[in-house]
Amino acid sequence: MPEFINPNKLRIARLVEIEGVTAEEIYSLLAVPQDSEMGDYALPCFRFAKALRKAPQAIAAELAQRIGDNGFCKAEAVNGYLNFRLNKAMLARDTLNSVISLQDKFGDSEAGKGKTVCIDFSSINIAKPFHIGHLSTTVIGAALYRVYKKMGYNAVGINHLGDWGTQFGKLIVAFKKWGSSEDLNKRGILALTDLYVRFHSEAEKDPALDEEARRSFKSLEDGDAEATGLYNLFKEITLKEVNKVYERLDIAFDSYNGEAFYNDKMDPVLRDLEAKNLIVESEGAKIVDLSDYGMPPCLLVKADGATLYATRDLAAAFYRKNTYDFYKCLYVVAYQQNLHFKQVFKVLELMGAEWAKDLVHVPFGMVSLEDGTMSTRKGKVVWLSDVLDRTVEKSLAIISQKSPDLKDKERIAEKIGVGAVVFFALSNNRIKDIVFSYDKVLNFDGETGPYVQYTNVRCNSILRRAGNIEEILASPLTEEDVKGLDNKESEVLIALIERFPSILNDVLDKYEPSILTRHLIDIAQAFNRFYLEHRILNAEEEYKKGRLALVYATRAVLTEGLRLLGIQSPEEM
Ligand code: ARG
Repeated sequence: MPEFINPNKLRIARLVEIEGVTAEEIYSLLAVPQDSEMGDYALPCFRFAKALRKAPQAIAAELAQRIGDNGFCKAEAVNGYLNFRLNKAMLARDTLNSVISLQDKFGDSEAGKGKTVCIDFSSINIAKPFHIGHLSTTVIGAALYRVYKKMGYNAVGINHLGDWGTQFGKLIVAFKKWGSSEDLNKRGILALTDLYVRFHSEAEKDPALDEEARRSFKSLEDGDAEATGLYNLFKEITLKEVNKVYERLDIAFDSYNGEAFYNDKMDPVLRDLEAKNLIVESEGAKIVDLSDYGMPPCLLVKADGATLYATRDLAAAFYRKNTYDFYKCLYVVAYQQNLHFKQVFKVLELMGAEWAKDLVHVPFGMVSLEDGTMSTRKGKVVWLSDVLDRTVEKSLAIISQKSPDLKDKERIAEKIGVGAVVFFALSNNRIKDIVFSYDKVLNFDGETGPYVQYTNVRCNSILRRAGNIEEILASPLTEEDVKGLDNKESEVLIALIERFPSILNDVLDKYEPSILTRHLIDIAQAFNRFYLEHRILNAEEEYKKGRLALVYATRAVLTEGLRLLGIQSPEEM
């Protein structure tokens, strides 16, 4: 049974009585037809042909005849499908009443009650730039986090910081040779990345530097005071900088336990692996052989005794299970790490962790700019904060031109600019590689954040001009009130609003926020079609309340949908 139950769909499922088939099964088979002309839900009857020993067409026809038109919905047989058409007036009335009374709580559910979901996302690397490559994990993870909460789950957001590794040896060496505390204090993370870049170019000429860096990292591992002091400073500087970005994106984490946190938690895992005879020594290194599963070995301890990224992930998985007793643990990490997670999950499974099946890698594609990608080592990095700044700057120029009299332009431009970047990153199926373009993400008429925000502003302004909207909508709508919604444009819009809660369910089912992003675009487009075709404020008196209610519900769902994606809704723009 799916986790969220749509009441109308359930009511339909219960109308269909087929021997040996439960209402739950019928429910899960009911689908929304591609073509809305075919009705609101369709049941494919070929699924029952074998058991009933009848042709699907005959099954559909019999069921259609028995169910007929019962006031709530009408059943029709079409090519082996049993199509259901909901009573439009009733659907309009019930949907709008429910959104108006629930407002931003429309779509809330208790599906996740008592279940904890850990979401490992953003997981930036200390002393490396927070670049556009971390955009997707950050916004996809945060969107899933918010939707889980809305569905009643206990969500735990984990920033698994990349705060351990040989790069710290390099930085310590570079800092001692070419850096200064003054520069670090003044330029923060920029000074750090300069040092990192300089180290790599100098090490190309002088390989002895690499050896020095290894020794520095070793002294850090051994707890040397100077090295530890510098390490902490680097970490502090990076976190200060990234927190500015998180603030702009309105993202907070429940835990920043990253790689370093697991330094003292790997030993028990390694011992357990030894005890279970899963470790093989290979040229001095410790590995888990995964050839039986068609994978290269999982390297856990190098010949020099150093542990690896995978070793930390094993320790982290146990720690999370013990600490949070999660129902699921998601890793929102680029597809480049597909193999890494397959290996880690397999090793856990071999260790007998039955919960390994609850670990989910949520991969996503690459983001590049129109003029090519970036690489940290060569210093050609596209910083996320720069992309945000530039988008905000461009938004400011656009709104200054469009609405010169707008007050508080800077604040609004920040919402539009940041929102445009976030919306863009959540627009496509997450596995796709995407190319960022300032013009495209800011196109007010395209399938963009600003377009949805603008539609919302349009709703706002209609509702403001209506004057006393709360009063108008104080009493629930009757079927009389929704007479003005008896037209194609309204019906399409209402059906989309009605589907909002199940869309959220789909987002979690597929770990795919773009389903919500696309749905908001559909709603915005449907609203604009409705707005073009039908009078609202100067409609016939008997139509007014229903149409205003539809505007009101549209605004509620768009605002809440945007919030879930991590995007603010400006009052005006
Ligand atoms: N810091 C890593 C990176 O930037 C991502 C870490 C993801 N989380 C994990 N548990 N491995 O590539």
